[in-house]
Amino acid sequence: MRGLILAGGRGTRLYPLTIGVSKQLLPVYDKPMVYYPLSMLMLAGIREMLVISSPEDLPQFRRLLGDGARWGVRFEYAEQTEPRGLADAFNVGRDFIGGETSCLILGDNIFFGTGLWDHLRRAAQLEEGALIFAYPVRDPRSYGVIEFDEQGRALSIEEKPEKPRSKYAVPGLYFYDRQVCDLVARLKPSPRGELEITDVNRIYLERGQLRVQQLGRGVAWLDAGTHETLLQASTFVQAVEERQGLMIGCPEEVAYRMGFIGRDQLADLARDLRYNSYGEYLLRLLEEPL
Ligand code: DAU
Repeated sequence: MRGLILAGGRGTRLYPLTIGVSKQLLPVYDKPMVYYPLSMLMLAGIREMLVISSPEDLPQFRRLLGDGARWGVRFEYAEQTEPRGLADAFNVGRDFIGGETSCLILGDNIFFGTGLWDHLRRAAQLEEGALIFAYPVRDPRSYGVIEFDEQGRALSIEEKPEKPRSKYAVPGLYFYDRQVCDLVARLKPSPRGELEITDVNRIYLERGQLRVQQLGRGVAWLDAGTHETLLQASTFVQAVEERQGLMIGCPEEVAYRMGFIGRDQLADLARDLRYNSYGEYLLRLLEEPL
């Protein structure tokens, strides 16, 4: 399975923070925002990832992430010249996906909680259809919203409805079979001029090929797209990390625990970062049993 990290867009809701720097490179407590979604892909066992961003911002992502070898993964990079919508990731990423199954994650979506790893591992085995998630939120109007029947089967999916039919928002994490690129190639832009991921999911739903996994209260899903939610995400990560002494969204740790890198490689990474608590954390990992 190939992973796509969509990290473009104009970030206007975070102006002036994002005039000079890409939203997905802003700090969320102790690491750049994009570390969180990319750690999720790594936890799913995905080692080949395409980072998609605007032509102006892509060089900074390259500088931060490199080719991925130090984490035992491979990063490629692709430009999205205009923010044409989330589904456009599959036009930009078509060659990279190369007929494999794929997973798209938004560069500003942060997940944390119990059971996530199992969900991810199972999702990464997907061969047919699409798999998305549903998460209850107080105000679902700014999300894709999914409606279920009494048996928990998906009935409808709508993008940013004024009158949501349920409280279930669809987070920015999507798994697809090999049809998705062809399907997106035929997709028409929505009235707001974007290639909507919700339209892609609706097509799978109409074909009876959409699976929806509900995420419960044991999982936190945060999107860090406004001043308030960016600060909330940082505060949340800080609170959990300080209390538990465990990091959220630390790619070095995930690479080590997933067996992408060994002890020696982790020790090298820790040495480069040893001047602060991030590096000290990596050094501590080496002292504990895996
Ligand atoms: O966060 C989950 C939600 O993400 C879903 O529930 C919605 O169905 C989905 O449409 C999307 O809604 P947003 O309003 O959050 O989408 P937004 O336009 O803000 O884009 C999400 C991220 O993707 C954002 O960080 C910018 C980036 N992006 C967006 C577009 C449209 C791109 O990199 N390229 C694009 O063309």
